[in-house]
Amino acid sequence: MMRMTQAVDVMRVAYYVIRMSVLTIASRKGGCGKSTLATAIAASLAADGLAVGLLDADPNGGAHRWATSIYDGPHLSAHAEPDKDRLAELLPELAERYAVLICDTAGFGNQSATICMVGADAVLVPVTPNESDVVEGRKTVAFIDGLARSARREIPVRVLANRIRRPTTLSRHMLSQLDALALPRLDATLSDLVAFGELSFSGALPPHGSPAAAELAALIAELRALGWLPNVPAAEAA
Ligand SMILES: Nc1ncnc2c1ncn2[C@@H]1O[C@H](COP(=O)(O)OP(=O)(O)OP(=O)(O)O)[C@@H](O)[C@H]1O
Ligand SMILES: [Mg+2]
Repeated sequence: MMRMTQAVDVMRVAYYVIRMSVLTIASRKGGCGKSTLATAIAASLAADGLAVGLLDADPNGGAHRWATSIYDGPHLSAHAEPDKDRLAELLPELAERYAVLICDTAGFGNQSATICMVGADAVLVPVTPNESDVVEGRKTVAFIDGLARSARREIPVRVLANRIRRPTTLSRHMLSQLDALALPRLDATLSDLVAFGELSFSGALPPHGSPAAAELAALIAELRALGWLPNVPAAEAA
């Protein structure tokens, strides 16, 4: 007869295998940090030992190019599919293949981004400290809420304040604007750091112990606490 601890192990493995996460990074605003976030989160989870897929739905293919020719780290499976019809087929297939699928989208209203939002377990909307980011971030959140109502299911969404410069009035103003608009916001924020900019060229995550690595770890911990990302497989965590 199976001992209790073995049964718990089996359940834990089953949970890990069955529980799939699709996290989409989206905003109608270009340049707010979608690809930076998508690649940094994907690489961090790959470093945790998770089976990670990165799906680039942006026709410019930047995240896919990064993952296939710049990224230097533990295995990360990259896919590019900007075509909406093929994307609608591919997304659910990839969602079943990986423990976590990170979808990067283009920064303008487009059907491929909508497919990635509808197919997501959760959506992250980066917003940087400028007026049009806040306006477009708000519209993106409202659009996702509308999609969720149409689909008659929840699509959890959070805004991530990106490129924050801590002591500045501008950054404080942006955070208070997000709160005044009652936009659901993560506690985690990302600062405006060269290390995040360098990621696109170096393909390496910010070094352990650096401020950028700490911010990324705090972001991922918060996403895990929300249940948006799978935990580290037991064997890797040991
Ligand atoms: N926290 C950050 N600190 C410093 N630079 C950042 C940060 N986040 C993003 N960047 C830089 O901002 C620029 C735009 O970022 P990114 O390409 O990720 O935005 P995007 O939303 O994917 O843009 P697009 O809509 O064009 O796809 C890049 O040069 C990136 O390196
Ligand atoms: Mg991008």
